[in-house]
Amino acid sequence: MFQRLFSTIILLLILCAFPTMQAYCGHDGPKQDKPGILVVAFGTTMPTAEKALQHIEGVIKKTFPNVPVRMAYSSKIVRAKIAREQHRNIASPAEALAQMKDENFTHVAVQSLHSIPGEEYHNLLKTAYAFPTMGKSMQQVVMGMPLMATSTDLEKVADAIMACLPADRKPNEAIVLMGHGTHHPADVYYAALQYHLAKRDPNIFVGTVEGFPTLDDVIEKLKKNGLTKAWLMPLMSVAGDHANNDMAGDEPDSWKSILDKNGITSVPVLTGLADYDQLVAIWVDHLKTAYSQLNIKSH
Ligand code: CO
Repeated sequence: MFQRLFSTIILLLILCAFPTMQAYCGHDGPKQDKPGILVVAFGTTMPTAEKALQHIEGVIKKTFPNVPVRMAYSSKIVRAKIAREQHRNIASPAEALAQMKDENFTHVAVQSLHSIPGEEYHNLLKTAYAFPTMGKSMQQVVMGMPLMATSTDLEKVADAIMACLPADRKPNEAIVLMGHGTHHPADVYYAALQYHLAKRDPNIFVGTVEGFPTLDDVIEKLKKNGLTKAWLMPLMSVAGDHANNDMAGDEPDSWKSILDKNGITSVPVLTGLADYDQLVAIWVDHLKTAYSQLNIKSH
């Protein structure tokens, strides 16, 4: 009796040893690691700006031809506005990860398209790291760094910006980059980038909408350098609402209007950082690093 039971157990163990026989053991079938990539941008409601995000998504797909790539927007306001006005649903990072968990993705590299490790980035980090704690199916989630994370990144970003300056810009004309700025401690990155840019070109300035340096700080430097013309460029992944309105708009409080009042003519360049291959390459490098940290078993 016991001997028969014992031999049945042995037989079951042997059957389980063959992957094709796993159905007998009540498994869902052979378990195979399924890696994926989730790209997370702040998001934009402007279709013209969305092109920059599609551009970087395309580069990522080309870099990882065998890995499914998903996209999510971290801004709730942007997602709600798109749903209301364009009748499209864009996933939040949590929704995208839940969907991937549902589709049995086991390892996910999340790449942030934010420019600094500020509030948006840290919220994303919390969401991403929560997933492997919810059951075993999604084993590992790693996060790629935003555009500017290390001093080396700042050097690379400064070099990339130098390579993307408008062709018609003359050395005695300023370049003014509009960063978002934040109350978060990561606001320091804008001043740090200014330091690296100043080493490369004395007439390039970084200002922010909500942080430091301010536009007043920039105007002070423009005047000190005797500059009367400035090229305005967004220091954001897309040339969206801030670039089109706060930077280049006709309202009296836009950067263009304020510079004009200060005797400085400006030429807005409505191109996001994610439109330039040199800058996209930095985000993609960060994703490569993150992806390489996934412990994917090869079959
Ligand atoms: Co904003």
